[in-house]
Amino acid sequence: LHVVHIAAEMAPVAKVGGLGDVVSGLGKALQKKGHLVEIVLPKYDCMQYGRVCDLRALNVVIESYFDSQLYESKIWVGTVEGLPVYFIEPQHPDKFFWRGKFYGEHDDFRRFSFFSRAALEFLLLAGKKPDIIHCHDWQTAFIAPLYWEIYVHKGLNSARICFTCHNFEYQGTAAASELESCGLDKNNLHRSDRMQDNSAHDRVNAVKGGIVFSNIVTTVSPTYAQEVRTAEGGHGLHSTLASNTKKFIGILNGIDIDAWNPATDAFLPVQYNATDLEGKLENKQALRRNLGLSSADIGRPLVGCITRLVPQKGVHLIRHAIYLTLELGGQFVLLGSSPVPHIQKEFEGIADNFQNHDHIRLILKYDESLSHAIYAASDMFIIPSIFEPCGLTQMISMRYGAIPIVRKTGGLNDSVFDVDDDTIPPQFRNGFTFVNADEQGLKGALLRAWNLFKNNPETWKQLVQKDMSIDFSWESSSAQYEELYINLAKTSQIGNE
Ligand code: ADP
Ligand code: GLC
Repeated sequence: LHVVHIAAEMAPVAKVGGLGDVVSGLGKALQKKGHLVEIVLPKYDCMQYGRVCDLRALNVVIESYFDSQLYESKIWVGTVEGLPVYFIEPQHPDKFFWRGKFYGEHDDFRRFSFFSRAALEFLLLAGKKPDIIHCHDWQTAFIAPLYWEIYVHKGLNSARICFTCHNFEYQGTAAASELESCGLDKNNLHRSDRMQDNSAHDRVNAVKGGIVFSNIVTTVSPTYAQEVRTAEGGHGLHSTLASNTKKFIGILNGIDIDAWNPATDAFLPVQYNATDLEGKLENKQALRRNLGLSSADIGRPLVGCITRLVPQKGVHLIRHAIYLTLELGGQFVLLGSSPVPHIQKEFEGIADNFQNHDHIRLILKYDESLSHAIYAASDMFIIPSIFEPCGLTQMISMRYGAIPIVRKTGGLNDSVFDVDDDTIPPQFRNGFTFVNADEQGLKGALLRAWNLFKNNPETWKQLVQKDMSIDFSWESSSAQYEELYINLAKTSQIGNE
């Protein structure tokens, strides 16, 4: 099959969170299965260009429609992680991807609707005939209506559209008139069964359009796929999902086990594997030294947390875990940053309080290499999410032998099984879970982990070794996508008809 992923992120060149990991991890896994996989990304100024091989400008300029005019975009091509990637560089006076950051601009809706249209224009002009166009999240959800409303009539008609929503909290809404900018017909789309926002009827909703117009819609775990079908978990889209239920499924993400491998990880001072856990201890000591934490007692538990600091992630419970760990006599390392100013400020305050503390360190930025060092150094890893579509950090932490302590929701519920849960076969039990999103819930799970670590080191070691050996690769998940694609390519179904 020929599969083109169109997305706003791809690790390691343009990553904000798990979306970036998924685009490269799934892309690589499908390529390994023999498919032709290509990626289309915006050409951001803040891209990690050092990680793109052979980047060069193509000798083509595309012209795409926006605000009733044609705008040029330059196309660049390069190789990232072995995958061919096309980068779109708009020559628009608003310098859409020349902002020093990926998201969070006042005109994000315009930036990404422009990108979506330009990406399809590029596929058309380049004569590409993909079997599947796979778009991700609201930033490229525009692809589905643009394809069926416009591009299929222009001759780009070989493809079926797969839309993956990685997080229904982010939907991309705007005044209906803004949708006209990229050429979508407001009168057609501003209908309750199409792109009209379910709660604000004068607005349009990109994710809703992605659901309605795509041939297949996926999200990133089976449990989350159930949760978003309910009024409590659906972020206002449950009724849309209910009326499109036959084409909506949840597939659990994998992780890129080459990029996340403690036995070969070049970011680590010492590589290690499940049969040689001495190396893990050396990483723990190295991190403590680097961060200025006490390394006197090697047996003192180290709790790690790596996350975007947004309400979804249970920030109040993360804060509570810091103080609880301190009370218990452990060490806590948080790596995270927040796009929400008051949350960032609050955590800066906590970081300042603990600036010279022996046991607590908060590092409030995005730092890829430090993230690897923290996974390797941690004994326990905390993820108290309020909701979590999939979550990758629990899988990465297990691969690095840090035992996850998670709230039972979304993909965490599909990948972490409590060591004390008798209803789960013992071989699958791999961490600690709690249900109630409150301090008591978190405390119960953390204390159970603590006691096992302190009182039963041999059992703890076996748990670490078991977790490090679990297969979280993309192997089985990419096979599910492959099957979906193959079935999709056979259908003659068009859009939502
Ligand atoms: P989400 O996509 O909701 O942020 P995931 O668990 O799916 O959550 O993926 C998060 C990814 O981003 C992981 O690869 C994690 O290691 C990484 N990450 C999150 N915050 C940081 C940070 N501050 N520095 C480095 N990596 C981070
Ligand atoms: C989103 C979700 C996260 C998921 C990631 C990759 O960012 O918040 O749970 O793991 O996408 O699918």
